[in-house]
Amino acid sequence: MSIDAIKTVAVLGAGTMGNGIAHVFARSGYKVILRDVERRFLDRGMEMIGKNLDREIKRRRLRRRRRELFLAGCSL
Ligand SMILES: NC(=O)c1ccc[n+]([C@@H]2O[C@H](COP(=O)([O-])OP(=O)(O)OC[C@H]3O[C@@H](n4cnc5c(N)ncnc54)[C@H](O)[C@@H]3O)[C@@H](O)[C@H]2O)c1
Repeated sequence: MSIDAIKTVAVLGAGTMGNGIAHVFARSGYKVILRDVERRFLDRGMEMIGKNLDREIKRRRLRRRRRELFLAGCSL
């Protein structure tokens, strides 16, 4: 299987490492499935991804209209 065939990645754990990894994959155009043991950990992970995207917008590394696209690329 070619690496180019990979379109979706699953990240287990939405903590410090997991939400960072999910962020990078979503920013790179992959669909991301984020999993954790409790909903509140997922919510916190998604909140962190949103904040980190906001930081990129503030630094002009990301356009605001693309923020929702990347967030929508992460499903729980
Ligand atoms: N944070 C770092 O800088 C760093 C660096 C190198 C390696 N690591 C390693 O990476 C791993 C994660 O670290 P972290 O800092 O993100 O921890 P964290 O505590 O921030 O996040 C871990 C998350 O994994 C979830 N989890 C636990 N068991 C799970 C399961 N069975 N299925 C799905 N989710 C599950 C927890 O609920 C938690 O939300 C650890 O093994 C850590 O040693 C972390």
